[in-house]
Amino acid sequence: MIKSSFKKNETALVNIQIRHLDKQYPYPSRETHNVLKDINLNIQAGDFVTILGKSGCGKSTLLNLIAGLSEPSKGDILLNGKRVKGTHPSIYIVFQQPCLLPWLNVEDNISFGCKLRKEMDNLAYRVGQFIELIGLSGRNRLYPAELSVGMACRVALARALIGRPKALLLDEPFGALDIFTRSRLQEEMINIWMSEQFTAMLVTHDIDEAILMGKKIVILGGSPCRIMDIVENPLPYPRKITDENFFRTKTMVMKKFKHIFLQSERV
Ligand SMILES: Nc1ncnc2c1ncn2[C@@H]1O[C@H](COP(=O)(O)OP(=O)(O)OP(=O)(O)O)[C@@H](O)[C@H]1O
Ligand SMILES: [Mg+2]
Repeated sequence: MIKSSFKKNETALVNIQIRHLDKQYPYPSRETHNVLKDINLNIQAGDFVTILGKSGCGKSTLLNLIAGLSEPSKGDILLNGKRVKGTHPSIYIVFQQPCLLPWLNVEDNISFGCKLRKEMDNLAYRVGQFIELIGLSGRNRLYPAELSVGMACRVALARALIGRPKALLLDEPFGALDIFTRSRLQEEMINIWMSEQFTAMLVTHDIDEAILMGKKIVILGGSPCRIMDIVENPLPYPRKITDENFFRTKTMVMKKFKHIFLQSERV
């Protein structure tokens, strides 16, 4: 467990408010494409929110907007009450594609941001811990071209976590992983989040993952995509997929998701 290597994240945490957010993409060949419509969401500092929705509904679009990588067509995104204008040093995003720097090996990719920010304290030790956490011990000198997709995704995750973000946006970070690596990293992620108390938003297609990790589960649906429901997860951490209460919560979320899915199919 990596918990012990962290100091408490004393500095201000980040709350995220999304108000009446619309996003449209202009297409040269056809009418404007409305992706997100009237998204309203309050994420408290230190919350862990999971975003559940079908492929193509606009989940990555939403995370990119929060990260300041693209601009809303309408509405506002506020970080601690201030409007998002471009990227913000406290907000890290782990993209759906790992996006590693191809000329740097595993350890240099992980330490890249820390070196830029001159956070050199125990850097080699911390990088070593993260390499162990992601199961790549002995592979630290490999370059991105020599990694599998799942290995590259794990490096991208370590690169974000080592920077001790105040808010972390995760776009299907475990999507390419086998079940064993996935469940170990889900558990470690929750440990780190509980120790660091950063604000987390995790996008997933996987109902188990949404329930395992989220304090709140935001269900997206419809076209254009809207928030169809927000489920307050009643389960205490740490959670186990095999618990009876987990199964009960899953049944409840699945019913809601199925209902929303069928509704949006009819639209
Ligand atoms: N840069 C862009 N320009 C134009 N259209 C885009 C752009 N990015 C996304 N889209 C469109 O917006 C919609 C939502 O895409 P987005 O990538 O947000 O979906 P998603 O929910 O993350 O899907 P997945 O689960 O497959 O990753 C899609 O119809 C897509 O074609
Ligand atoms: Mg996506």
